[in-house]
Amino acid sequence: MINAIGVTLRYGKRVLFEDVNIKFSKGNCYGLIGANGAGKSTFLKILSGEIEPSKGEVTMDKGERLSMLKQDHFAYEEFTVIDAVIMGNEELYRIKNEKDAIYAKPDFSEEDGMKAAKLEERFAELDGWNAESDAAILLNNLGIEPDKHYKFMKELEAKEKVKVLLAQALFGNPDVLLLDEPTNDLDIKSINWLQEFLIDFENTVIVVSHDRYFLNKVCTHIADVDFGKIKIYSGNYDFWYESSQLALKQMKEANKKKEDKIKELQEFIARFSANASKSKQATSRKKTLEKIELDEIKPSNRKYPYIDFKPDREPGKEVLEVKNLCKTIDGEKILDNISFTITREDKVAFLADNENVRTALFQILAGEMEPDSGEINWGTTITTTYFPKDSNYLFDSNMNIVDWLRGYSKDPDETFVRSFLGRMLFSGEEALKKVNVLSGGEKVRCVLSKMMLSGANLLIFDEPTNHLDMEAITALNEGMSKFKGIILFASHDHQLVQTVANKIIDIKDDKLIVKEGTYDEYLNME
Ligand SMILES: Nc1ncnc2c1ncn2[C@@H]1O[C@H](COP(=O)(O)OP(=O)(O)OP(=O)(O)O)[C@@H](O)[C@H]1O
Ligand SMILES: [Mg+2]
Repeated sequence: MINAIGVTLRYGKRVLFEDVNIKFSKGNCYGLIGANGAGKSTFLKILSGEIEPSKGEVTMDKGERLSMLKQDHFAYEEFTVIDAVIMGNEELYRIKNEKDAIYAKPDFSEEDGMKAAKLEERFAELDGWNAESDAAILLNNLGIEPDKHYKFMKELEAKEKVKVLLAQALFGNPDVLLLDEPTNDLDIKSINWLQEFLIDFENTVIVVSHDRYFLNKVCTHIADVDFGKIKIYSGNYDFWYESSQLALKQMKEANKKKEDKIKELQEFIARFSANASKSKQATSRKKTLEKIELDEIKPSNRKYPYIDFKPDREPGKEVLEVKNLCKTIDGEKILDNISFTITREDKVAFLADNENVRTALFQILAGEMEPDSGEINWGTTITTTYFPKDSNYLFDSNMNIVDWLRGYSKDPDETFVRSFLGRMLFSGEEALKKVNVLSGGEKVRCVLSKMMLSGANLLIFDEPTNHLDMEAITALNEGMSKFKGIILFASHDHQLVQTVANKIIDIKDDKLIVKEGTYDEYLNME
């Protein structure tokens, strides 16, 4: 069980949470939902103790352990898989490293020996000698084969990374498991697997997700973050949606009745207050009028951004020709003699057996990586802009959003940049936040703003819907559908691929398939 008592958190003027009181009980799975930037990740960090609330506290039962899978799935790139899992127990991992460092010393002193002995003792207490085998068992259960256990995280596909991070969170069997958007990088098969896993998990789970289907499958409760409050509803996502809509409707009807009554009373008072014989009645009605209070109906914080990509110039006839492209990364042949041609009507969805293939191809097309061999010929009229799968590197800065985006704008005028940000839901003070504190979805909105400002006529997207809330996904889908230029993209969002792509390029291990038509047509053909 974990309990938030009177939790309040403010960032400057913005109140993220105001006096939040909730208890999360054993055996339940809570879906934490809310718009991008509502405070879901922050709330999980408050529960885990990473962030101190301005007021209030978080308590857990004695001896209980909590662990967390964070929203950023690229945070452990330079560690080996097995180490990433063992890091789930921070103390154990630290002791293991200190110990190894001492033994690696060429001038091992007596003092070092004593220190090492102390560390060995604690290491044994923490069951350190079994750590690697425990971690390996967890990984095997999650379908990560032994030949991957000593690879670096950066060598794995994103869907495998999530599994390793999940193994990290599960290492040592936590009593409270916090998961921040675990399905973001998972394919359908792995999502099904995670659903089954969470349904069977016996302790407390709190999971953040924008995926309705997933929430319906796993949640026993929904915790909705809106207006600085968190409200718990029992039932799954659909049940929450229905009941919150119903409550809103009832509130509106009740308000309508009260408004009618107010009007009637006001009319009576206006008509008769000057009339001596009726003035007593008028006064009593005035009192009744004062007592009627309308329920305050706040519109939800859920809003649609406006996404519209406008090319500065029309693409010419020659767009892109890729010939015999090869790339080997960390000893593995990722691109093996790939060739294809893109024309100006194309909106191409790329599929691949290994998703790192698409990412490598896009990185090369975006000029972020060199191929080992092969040719890329761009048409002279073509200008490109790129949405990377992991965009964290763009936000490693102390700049505020306005200055950050101004760096990508041909027109540096502040009013211009600000009006642009306004439609992407950063208005007023919000636009002056530092980019390194932004939420997952807010970062994506910034990358999309940068792409819109580029005026490019060829857009490349690598998994753009990750992190976005429903409203933003809808807006992005519309923006991509009505774009007049060329799009090359990869997405696990079926609806997006189905409604945007008019061509499929499927990069299989042994061949490359190019087919005109929609995604569903392609799938039905297979
Ligand atoms: N240090 C900070 N200073 C100011 N604002 C901050 C700071 N840290 C976070 N924020 C803001 O707090 C809000 C909540 O962020 P959080 O990451 O919790 O959102 P979220 O609900 O997880 O959103 P998403 O669905 O996009 O992941 C965001 O608007 C973010 O910009
Ligand atoms: Mg978040």
